[in-house]
Amino acid sequence: MSEHAAPNLTPREADDVSYRTRKWVKPEDLNANGTLFGGSLLRWIDEEAAIYSIIQLGNPRSVTKLISEIEFRASARQGDMIEMGLRAVAFGRTSMTMRAKVRNMVTGEVILTIDKIVFVSLDEDGRPQPHGYTDITYDRDRLPLEDRGH
Ligand SMILES: CC(C)(COP(=O)(O)OP(=O)(O)OC[C@H]1O[C@@H](n2cnc3c(N)ncnc32)[C@H](O)[C@@H]1OP(=O)(O)O)[C@@H](O)C(=O)NCCC(=O)NCCS
Repeated sequence: MSEHAAPNLTPREADDVSYRTRKWVKPEDLNANGTLFGGSLLRWIDEEAAIYSIIQLGNPRSVTKLISEIEFRASARQGDMIEMGLRAVAFGRTSMTMRAKVRNMVTGEVILTIDKIVFVSLDEDGRPQPHGYTDITYDRDRLPLEDRGH
């Protein structure tokens, strides 16, 4: 296990992802093979991970630090629906590590899994900032709303 963000949630908590977002594969998402373009999928996953990190860490300045190896195991065709799932597996001092899974809702196949997506919480000067959290919230209690007069 690396020195970075060692898992600190139980195996059961870290067991699987919660599927949150669905996407409909459209012509602009295809590669020359007529199947889902990997770059489109990675963009969707990074955005999903950013939103999840902001909700978990309560900081809109949460940035992608690391995405571990990705193997595209299956794909999707135009008109297929896919769903993306994430779960936090470790809370560090300034970072959070998630795992991700994407599956094709039409074929039931797993398109990919990612063991580690690391996001870091930053301060206004772009330096890592301690977030103070150690576990997952299933609520919206950490949403950063100060700028909106709340
Ligand atoms: C995020 C950034 C400020 C971190 O800088 P840094 O010098 O690595 O900071 P630190 O060494 O203090 O590490 C910050 C956290 O990241 C973790 N981290 C650093 N390198 C890591 C790696 N290779 N793998 C996993 N975690 C890592 C550290 O463990 C630490 O987490 P912790 O506080 O929970 O223990 C800097 O790398 C950066 O600005 N990167 C660009 C981010 C970005 O813009 N992403 C969008 C795509 S371009």
